[in-house]
Amino acid sequence: MNVHDSDLIESGLVKKGFKKAVSVEDADIVVFNTCSVRDNADHKVISELGRLKKNYADKKIVLAGCFAKQIKLKKEQNGNMYFDYCFAPEEIFSIPDILANNAAVNDIGGSNETRQDYYLAERPEEYLENAGKIEEYFYGKKPENDGTASVKITEGCNNFCSYCIVPYVRGRERSIPIGIIYKTVKNLIDKGASEITLLGQNVNSYVSPDDDKKDFRFLLNTVSEIEGSFKIRFLTSHPKDFNDKLIDTVCGDNKIAKEIHLPVQSGSDKILAMMNRGYNSADFLKLVRKLKNGNIDISISTDIIVGFPGETEKDFEDTLKLIEEAEFSSIFAFKYSPRPFTKAFKFNDDVLLEVKKERLERVFQKYKEISLRQCAR
Ligand code: 5AD
Ligand code: SF4
Repeated sequence: MNVHDSDLIESGLVKKGFKKAVSVEDADIVVFNTCSVRDNADHKVISELGRLKKNYADKKIVLAGCFAKQIKLKKEQNGNMYFDYCFAPEEIFSIPDILANNAAVNDIGGSNETRQDYYLAERPEEYLENAGKIEEYFYGKKPENDGTASVKITEGCNNFCSYCIVPYVRGRERSIPIGIIYKTVKNLIDKGASEITLLGQNVNSYVSPDDDKKDFRFLLNTVSEIEGSFKIRFLTSHPKDFNDKLIDTVCGDNKIAKEIHLPVQSGSDKILAMMNRGYNSADFLKLVRKLKNGNIDISISTDIIVGFPGETEKDFEDTLKLIEEAEFSSIFAFKYSPRPFTKAFKFNDDVLLEVKKERLERVFQKYKEISLRQCAR
């Protein structure tokens, strides 16, 4: 999602006449798009800002993305952090105009007057009016050299998993109108794309803002009907919104890639409830079975968080057990990191760092065992 946002910023700037520099040394303006999902992402941003200030004091620094939003929400700025502009994710479409006009900035960057919130779900009429602007940005996109391309279909999230900062920094869920997505994908296919990834924090709760019957399944069917030989992927699905009809579409449509990313986060029902995930381990395994029974080629990857507050050895063993049963094709595992604004931030982060590290290692070990077993078949 962040890479996609960086592409949008880049295409907007290039359209305004800015030229992409080959290196930081070569640039007059440095746009630094940021993530905030775990605390190590924040630390990287803070140290990179320090490095930029030390080595490139003459350049204008534009801070954008989720870390920028955190600064705005906290209404405070660490004295060691230096930047000229600060744009939250919903403000990135105004970056080209503001930089082109060299507009004045306020104390935490950005400018409220020129700010245009193109994804504002709270004001649907305005949101749809501004869809034209989104279109303009999206249409400029070209596939990568390897034929891949990504298209954002939703922004923000309404799920409020208790550990996750995304609903705070990216705001409530807003879907892009289906007509814009269709034209964007068509344009990418016409330009030679062979693989389209539909992007959103929770793609399977997609509903076109101009017609609530046009849900994610409808969108998949619509995109799949575009002529040409290409694969469709989507990221990320929430297990609780993966209904039977969607399973049928995913299993039955040849254009849809049979690799599904389905974050489970934990195998312990106690931890899943504390995480506010909306399913238990049995629900998840049932979904995995349905997908695999629906099409034998389907492989499923996942995300796991280890060391969530209150996670006992028994809870963690339940996660290992679930990994064993689900036979994931790949696993992205993370140590729990408390994030500001979230519900879990107030929980006691009581799993020792050493224990988190050890559990992470055991997840990778389990994954290795499964992979070896799969290869031996
Ligand atoms: N701590 C650790 N991992 C997290 N993720 C999201 N928030 C946190 C957090 N506070 C992980 C989840 C999610 C992935 C994108 O990042 O596994 O699926
Ligand atoms: Fe975060 Fe949960 Fe939304 Fe994913 S579904 S972005 S983990 S709140």
